[in-house]
Amino acid sequence: MSKALDGVRILDFTHVQSGPTCTQLLAWFGADVIKVERAGAGDITREQLRDIPDVDSLYFTMLNHNKRSVTIDTKNPEGKQVLEALIQKCDVLVENFAPGALDRMGFTWERIQELNPQMIVASVKGFGPGPYEDCKVYENVAQCAGGAASTTGFDDGPPVVTGAQIGDSGTGLHLALGIVTALYQRTHTGRGQRVLAAMQDGVLNLCRVKLRDQQRLERTGTMKEYPQYPNGQFGEAVPRAGNASGGGQPGWILKCKGWETDPNAYIYFITQAPVWAKICNVIGKEEWATDPDYATPAARLPHLKDIFAEIERWTMTKTKFEAMQILNKYDIPCGPILSMKEIAEEPSLRKTGTIVEVDHPTRGKYLTVGNPIKLSDSPTEVTRSPLLGEHTDEVMAELGYSPEQVSALRTAGAI
Ligand code: COA
Repeated sequence: MSKALDGVRILDFTHVQSGPTCTQLLAWFGADVIKVERAGAGDITREQLRDIPDVDSLYFTMLNHNKRSVTIDTKNPEGKQVLEALIQKCDVLVENFAPGALDRMGFTWERIQELNPQMIVASVKGFGPGPYEDCKVYENVAQCAGGAASTTGFDDGPPVVTGAQIGDSGTGLHLALGIVTALYQRTHTGRGQRVLAAMQDGVLNLCRVKLRDQQRLERTGTMKEYPQYPNGQFGEAVPRAGNASGGGQPGWILKCKGWETDPNAYIYFITQAPVWAKICNVIGKEEWATDPDYATPAARLPHLKDIFAEIERWTMTKTKFEAMQILNKYDIPCGPILSMKEIAEEPSLRKTGTIVEVDHPTRGKYLTVGNPIKLSDSPTEVTRSPLLGEHTDEVMAELGYSPEQVSALRTAGAI
């Protein structure tokens, strides 16, 4: 079966996480992704957090599936020529180097345009134009600068970063959308363009509701769905909301049976208004369904802590899965807190290709997260990440280099 991005060639000049997530997605949609790495070293993540000596780390393998790897020293004059040939052959160049690195290599936007006016040049940077544009940025810096950390955690504690890689993988996703959009526009204009996804912007986009709340707070001085209401204090900025749901339907994380020993024996429970009477029945507080202090969402707001404490008395008598089963019967929205171990072992996620087992020549079998975006006419088959330079000869032949030329370039340290 053909793939959505069949025929699209990506010059993948990315490293670490943000850029590689983007190009991996494009590869899963069928693009030919050629990852350019430095000979002998490669993407730094190949050797970071290794669990098996001398074997590409899971960090690398899980971000670089379905790609080809070529080694080029792009600071070597002959290596530069190889990169130029690739630029002429590819549709998109994706990079996430520190600001200015591509220019310092001699590949300015103007130079790339000269080589290939149709080329789309897509970049992840930490910040957009402004005071911090020259800064190097990693995940947690973006979470802090994008508004996630100041709004995550509990009111009486410090800012907290989240385990979801919203700065890296989140920005990679944003960039991938920018790239396919630019490819679409190119079908009308015939021209390439630059695509920029700044990590601060990507995180802020995912924190959009918190900017909404900032303005609500400034106007009214309070936000009734936050745990600070009604007894706590609101300051000038959106506070940390603990586990409050943030929407119009109050929610909280509650203990389940076994919580004393199992750190994940918890459930997220949402007191959605239309099912309030059912909730009262399930937890044995039928009188709350008609009590004027509890019967309406507005009346419940000042009592939320007591309400969740009462619901928790019920959830603590059930495992998270038992509670889930009972609550689902009544359409009461809830979600078990799943550990990574439980997710890795969940058969339904294997069935949909969301968790995939991959075989690697030096690592053996390992699990990865497959393509979370499912296209009915462009299914994803996850194939292993490439070894360093595994496809150098193949790609050089496609660029028209003879085996003798390849061997001379290798001797010169260009590839
Ligand atoms: N051949 C020759 N040189 C190469 C090369 C190749 N194939 N590939 C990379 N290089 C060089 C670059 O040109 C650069 O050289 P320069 O500093 O002399 O200009 C050098 O390698 C290092 O690149 P850099 O991006 O500065 O790496 P770093 O390890 O110091 O910084 C980041 C890493 C992630 C902090 C930085 O790349 C960054 O801020 N990127 C943008 C934001 C981002 O994506 N962050 C999230 C990463 S998950």
